[in-house]
Order: sequence, then structure tokens, then C-alpha cells
Amino acid sequence: MLVLHVVGARPNFMKLAPVHAALARRGAGQLIVHTGQHYDAAMSDVFFRELGLPEPDRNLNVGSGSHAEQTADVMRRLEPVIVETKPDWVVVYGDVNSTVAAALVCAKLLVRVAHVEAGLRSRDLTMPEEINRLVTDRIADLLLTPSADGDENLATEGVAKERVRCVGNVMADTLLRLLPAANDRWPELRERLPGERFAVVTLHRPSNVDEPARLRALVDALAELSAELPIVFPLHPRTRESLRRVGFEPPATLALTEPAGYLDFLAMQSHATVVVTDSGGIQEETTILGVPCLTMRENTERPVTVTLGTNTLIGSDLDVLRREFRAVAAGRGKRGTLPPLWDGRAGERIADILTAQ
Ligand code: UD1
Repeated sequence: MLVLHVVGARPNFMKLAPVHAALARRGAGQLIVHTGQHYDAAMSDVFFRELGLPEPDRNLNVGSGSHAEQTADVMRRLEPVIVETKPDWVVVYGDVNSTVAAALVCAKLLVRVAHVEAGLRSRDLTMPEEINRLVTDRIADLLLTPSADGDENLATEGVAKERVRCVGNVMADTLLRLLPAANDRWPELRERLPGERFAVVTLHRPSNVDEPARLRALVDALAELSAELPIVFPLHPRTRESLRRVGFEPPATLALTEPAGYLDFLAMQSHATVVVTDSGGIQEETTILGVPCLTMRENTERPVTVTLGTNTLIGSDLDVLRREFRAVAAGRGKRGTLPPLWDGRAGERIADILTAQ
């Protein structure tokens, strides 16, 4: 049996690791294709190393471009690899452009596709990721959902039950496995952080960082709040570029850093007083860690992080951010509980399903 995994962007790598390891334990043949959507060492290589993943077997080197260019380049370069290797299953992860591109290629070649993290919906079609989720789930053969809301969304869309399996959250597998290693790095890392209590911020969504006035207002609010609780803000390349154009000079209490590796970022999150983000995965990681998370978005495709976990949707109103940030800093953050099946065994369940079919 041959399973071919397609990954391309930072949030894919931590989802691949537990599925790959569980399939390896079952003796399945595996190939990893990296599309090259994320290509900087800090966005890609460090994750393969820290997650214990083997080097990708192929790199399609698509790099950056418009959505159409990036998606089309993955399709053109992946097709001959699928034709040549004839996998029994292709596994795609999450909601990035590489995910939908790979699913389209395989659906047309009649090669079976499994989608890990299926069924999530923000119902916001201005997000490219929502389009990627909808299209991928429409054409993939096997939809592996992280939580019951995913199953409900798919049922509402008329997807046959036989195509859907609720397996839990693969991000939790990786986090729970690597938390001890992350904690080992903490003594050294804390020396570089502003103090015992701090906030972590990540922002990279076009809706927050592409428009100069919006980004400026956001970082001005963060600069103000950092006087009360120091902030560490690892910068996504897209955000770094936008900030350079805005000409923002941060105060000493707001540390702008390079993108962090998986272990350092996990250690930072787990020791943070609060995390402010517009990421999808970080909403989940903070829920698993029990750390309050303030999400700078109007909606979320991960509602269990709000209903059961530690996540609060802030929307775009910066006064709401100020109020909630101060409330958490004063100890009034959400506590939350772990959603069902976020137990560190999702990769095992996926491997069982794939090897049984
Ligand atoms: C992508 C995903 C998003 C995910 C995010 C995580 C899509 C549609 N979006 O967004 O869902 O949350 O990854 O990071 O797939 N760049 C570099 N070096 C890199 C990668 C990107 O400099 O290694 C810069 C380039 O200028 C590029 C820009 O970042 O144009 C955006 O990269 P891209 O892959 O298009 O989307 P992300 O914003 O990273």
C-alpha cells in the first residue's frame, strides 16, 4: 500500500506528522510531496526537523504568486508525480491552496483522496481558505473531521455519511507529543522574553495586515496594551512586509521577532498570559493548552474553541480588543475544556481507516 501526502504551508506540517508516524508503524509505504508554497527555512525546514518528519521525497517549488498562479502551479507539477507513483491514497491537509490543488488533480485522475481536517466552515467566502475547504470536501473521497460540528456541516451540505469519519484533532497529537520537548527549551527561551507575564501575538490574514490603515490601527492598539503587559509578536513574512510599508516603530515593550519554530512557539504559548491571533491552528492550540485566546476575526471555522475552549472572537473592533485583553491580563480569562477526541490519538484513527480500505 502506498500513501502519498501533499503538504505545502506551515500549518500543514504539524498535521502530517502524526498521520505519517501512525502509518509508518503499520508498515505502509509513504511519499511526502512538499509543494513549496512555504519555502523560507523559518516557515518550513525548522518544522520538518522539529516534528521528526523525513525530508520530503519531492519538492514542487511553486513558491509565492497569486492564488490562481499558486494553485495552477501545484496542479501542473503534481499531476505527473501522481501518474508516475500511482498511490492508493493521497492525503491532503487543512485549507491552504496546496490542499485544494492536490484534491483537484487526484479527483480528475480517479485517485482516492482523504482530507484531514474536513468539514470546518467559517461561512465567510471572502476567506480564500473557505473556498478551499468547500471545494476539497466536495471532491475528496474520505472526509476526516476533527469535531462533531464538521460532521454536522457536511450533513447539511448533503454529503453521504459513508464518506465522513470523525477522527479528532491531529494538531492535538503533535502538541501533546512535543509539549515536554518544548518545555525543555523554556529555561533558555524565557531569558529572551520580556518577563514572567507576557502576551503572544500573531497576525497574517489579509483582512488584518494587507490594508495599511487597518494594520496601523491594530499595531498602535497593541503598542498601547504592551505598556500593561509586554507583547512578543513573531512576524509572518507577509506581515513583516506590510509593517515595513506602514513604517511602524514599536515601543520597547512590543518585541517584533522572526517567525518562531514549532517548539519555541509552543513553549511561548503555553507560558503566555494571553494569545492574540488571527490564525486557525492557534485557536486550537490555546484551547488544548488552556490559555485564553483572543481572535481578531468576525467568525471562526473552529467553533468548539469558543463553545468548549478558551477562545473569544473579538471581531475587528479594537476597543473590544482593549477591553478583553485587559480583562484577561487581570485574571478574568476563559478556562475552557478539551473537546472530545482531542486526545492525541487522531493519527492512529486515521491510519486505521486508511489501511482498512
Ligand atoms: C497561507 C494559507 C493560510 C495559512 C498560512 C499560514 C492559503 C490560501 N493560505 O497563507 O491559510 O494560515 O499560510 O502561514 O493557502 N512568504 C514568504 N516566505 C514563505 C512563504 C510566504 O516570504 O516561506 C510571503 C510571500 O511574500 C507570499 C506571502 O508570504 O506572497 C503569502 O504567502 P502565501 O503562501 O501566499 O499565503 P499565506 O499568507 O502564508
